[in-house]
Amino acid sequence: MCGIVGYLGEKKATPILIEGLSKLEYRGYDSSGIAVVENGEVKIEKCRGRLSNLKDKVLDKDFTSSIGIGHTRWATHGEPSDVNSHPHSNQDGTIAVVHNGIIENYIVLREWLISEGYKFVSETDTEVIPHLVDYYFDGNLEDAVIKATKRMEGSYALGVISKNDPDKIVAVRKDSPLVIGVGENESFIASDIPAVLNSTRDVYLLEDKEFVVMTKSGITIYDENKNKVDKQIFHVTWDIDAAEKGGYEHFMLKEIYEQPKAIKDTLTSRIVKGEKIKIDGIHLTKEQIENFDRIYIIACGTAYHSGVVGKYVIERLAKIPVEIDVASEFRYRNPLITEKTLMICISQSGETADTLAALRLAKEKGARIIAITNVVGSSISREADDVFYTWAGPEIAVASTKAYITMLIALYIIALYMAEVKNTVRATEIEKIKDGLLNLSEKTAEILNDIEPIKAFVDEIYKHKDVYYLGRGLDYAVAMEGSLKLKEISYIHSEAYAGGELKHGTIALIEEGTSVIALATQSDLYDKMVSNIREVKTRGAKVLGIAMEGQTEIEKTVDATIYIPKVMSILAPVLSVIPLQILAYYTAVKKGCDVDKPRNLAKSVTVE
Ligand code: F6R
Repeated sequence: MCGIVGYLGEKKATPILIEGLSKLEYRGYDSSGIAVVENGEVKIEKCRGRLSNLKDKVLDKDFTSSIGIGHTRWATHGEPSDVNSHPHSNQDGTIAVVHNGIIENYIVLREWLISEGYKFVSETDTEVIPHLVDYYFDGNLEDAVIKATKRMEGSYALGVISKNDPDKIVAVRKDSPLVIGVGENESFIASDIPAVLNSTRDVYLLEDKEFVVMTKSGITIYDENKNKVDKQIFHVTWDIDAAEKGGYEHFMLKEIYEQPKAIKDTLTSRIVKGEKIKIDGIHLTKEQIENFDRIYIIACGTAYHSGVVGKYVIERLAKIPVEIDVASEFRYRNPLITEKTLMICISQSGETADTLAALRLAKEKGARIIAITNVVGSSISREADDVFYTWAGPEIAVASTKAYITMLIALYIIALYMAEVKNTVRATEIEKIKDGLLNLSEKTAEILNDIEPIKAFVDEIYKHKDVYYLGRGLDYAVAMEGSLKLKEISYIHSEAYAGGELKHGTIALIEEGTSVIALATQSDLYDKMVSNIREVKTRGAKVLGIAMEGQTEIEKTVDATIYIPKVMSILAPVLSVIPLQILAYYTAVKKGCDVDKPRNLAKSVTVE
């Protein structure tokens, strides 16, 4: 994620840009920058760190310009640094661009532009854009931007200015949000409504590939063929606080709804139909992959639960034995590590103290380390040998949702990548799983578009003091995550058990009315799971089943069923966790809990 803003009007642009960016810091905050057209020149100020650093820098300058663009960054390509910060410019500094999104074909474009004589200074995907605009610039900025975007694949919301077509901001979006604020003798661009609310409540909500040209005489919107588009003004009635959450009541719900996009972003450029898997940050040779005799997956909490899925998936596809452990245990148990050991450390924040310590221990003993993390430039990403960035965007709610889902996606990609290199799975099977992965975003959206059947169970769950989650195989891994979600935000005690393990003790707790959530999405374990459900049912449990569309046999045994869309069993965790997130969320809301900031918890645990 990242945030962009733009201002064109009669006031000084700089303070308005800074104010707008401050409302977008929730979208990213590892660096920021602005560009203005000052005395006929494009002036750029940008730096690493929080917005306050930029504020200090630009206040000294006292720019008088009334046209400018700004950016707050959440790094995806290239670590947070001054040079990687936006705005980016062309070689002679006549064009400046702010960008939110990912240009998927940036490597191809970059190579082509270099062959055309362009020089690059940053590691970002964005830098191709000002060079492309420069390439097509012929005196009219919007024409150049339209031509440039025709070459770009991926997602983008852009703000562009140029000293050679001054008094103008050109903006466009595709698969990244962008709104246009309509004020009196002034107009704004912003990634999100809160950034303009201090100045106006009237906005245009742009559709994909709509181009905006803002000048002193007004706002014109075009389609990609430069036909004028008539748009209705949308009048915002929410307050700023609600608007920051995109109209959702809590960040957690917003982040649950961001999952389809997060899945897509994480797959982007890594899984392409019919092509070999490419993982940008992992540089292992075939020989190295074949040499690993053991993998440790190490993480904490929700990240650990994603690792449990990873263990099943890597063993099944890459055929390498995988041990999974919580970081705080691993580091004190004298684990057996050799140069043939691969360690995969998973951490949303990339700063969790136990995970970092486990990484250091394994590295010292000669293991190769892959980090899966959401935060570019985090400690874990810097200390690992290879990094897989999950491009989920900043996660604000303490309870992890979209980061968990993208960790799963990362693990599928790594497992498939190893299987492809080692030739452990037939190519047709690999293609089938890739297809399945590419369809997951849509299927996730399908679940989120109709949550009423899931919410219907909240009244039941909410009255209980204890809830049990059951599953076998991959369903057991998801049961653990569902259970953690419920306990951490609703404070209802819950436990997850492997279906077959129940009879070895825990079943003693089942009595009339005990609440059980049973996952039965795995076709090879379906009958066994149904018989485990029968065991608790006959002892009086009230059971909510989670199954895949078409697996209706379960209805004979449970009290109610939620169905997830049909996918290959191996991919089911990505879908089956969603009803569990929704159940936990609405149960916590009904109990009046502080959903985004549950008691006793912190988003990033940087102490042992
Ligand atoms: C639960 C949750 C925590 C984190 C854990 C590890 O919803 O978010 O359990 O998963 O503290 O954090 P990271 O992934 O940042 O290492």
